[in-house]
Amino acid sequence: MQPVSVSEHVTWVGAVDWDLRDFHGFETPHGSTYNAYLVRGTAQTALIDTVKTPFVPELLSRIGKLIDLAEIDLIVVNHVEPDHNSGLRDVMAACPNARVVASASGVRGVAEYHDGLVIEQVGAADVIDLGGVTLQFLPAPMVHWPDSMFTYCPEDAVLLCNDAFGQHLATSERFADEAGLDLSLEQLRVYYANILLPLGSQIAKALEKVSAAGWAPGIIAPSHGVIWRGDQVGEVIAAYQKWGSGALLDKAVIVYSTMWGSTDELARTIADALVQEGVDVEVFDLAATGMAHIMRELLDARGLLVGSPTLHHGMLYRVAGFLQYLAGLKPADRVAASFGSYGWSSGATAQVDERLAAIGIEVVQPPYTQKFRPNAADLEAARAWGAEFAAKVKAAGTAAAAPPEA
Ligand code: FEO
Repeated sequence: MQPVSVSEHVTWVGAVDWDLRDFHGFETPHGSTYNAYLVRGTAQTALIDTVKTPFVPELLSRIGKLIDLAEIDLIVVNHVEPDHNSGLRDVMAACPNARVVASASGVRGVAEYHDGLVIEQVGAADVIDLGGVTLQFLPAPMVHWPDSMFTYCPEDAVLLCNDAFGQHLATSERFADEAGLDLSLEQLRVYYANILLPLGSQIAKALEKVSAAGWAPGIIAPSHGVIWRGDQVGEVIAAYQKWGSGALLDKAVIVYSTMWGSTDELARTIADALVQEGVDVEVFDLAATGMAHIMRELLDARGLLVGSPTLHHGMLYRVAGFLQYLAGLKPADRVAASFGSYGWSSGATAQVDERLAAIGIEVVQPPYTQKFRPNAADLEAARAWGAEFAAKVKAAGTAAAAPPEA
């Protein structure tokens, strides 16, 4: 694959990871990319970001199709997470004339990751003139780590924002409109739900700082997936603002695991009751669906129901794994409850409720527990329990929409 021109001075030279199927526990069925960009002025050339170590030869080979590596004067480290930074030392070795810059926290991160490697700090007051084209910088802490930084090329109106606006999407196309807008926007949502969900307020601050700095990007070039241009720029910023606002729907995600089918039967019965009461549902057996897709649905769902039968006095391991994944992403303002079957010993639902509360999710009603198999009367009771939960989902939505008391 050849380097791809992004704008007059900016060229994509990154790497495509076609085979990536797991990104620290986040399933990535479409693979990903580690985007890096060359910015070429009349006097100097900068490389924005590097790549994961195994992809350094691909990066260097792509740059080598444009220039001699010795011509790189500057390497900008926008983020020290290893998917972008683990290859830094190898890239530096191949680019002997490059100085390396990062945010203050990035400088510390590079030193810690690379055995004391010393690089230079840049911040919002710095402008690096490459000759006819400049680079500006904006620390964007927690988008995605404390060191995260945005780089902006004002002459071309290109925002190089690393993880922000990224998607885990490996394609032979570099722009969202070429790869398919629906697929690109869908992967933007999945990425946000699984990486950035707990960071909505920091993302909002970063976007405010972009506006306050007078940056008006016409192209958003992230370090994962495809590049946004034209009307898509406003569209993806609006999507981030919507998700960051925490607006939720009268919708519930029902997630469960089952041993002999009783908890599965409860899940489907409860789902029917919610739909009957006007609450949309998405139902997931954890043995069949990965957590990234479940989080994609929970992104705008106000309700969460977690089902587990009891095994060895506690919840099934898949449910425990999901709750651990959920704890990291800390969805706010959800209402939740648990359900499940048991045989000779109960215990799973109490454990689920305790874990939900520890995560900070409000458990709004006692669990529905079922000994052995549900009969017709039990299913009616489960249906009533589901209807009660539906009312609580809707009531929470009404409360959230009400103006604050004077
Ligand atoms: Fe793509 Fe936070 O690393």
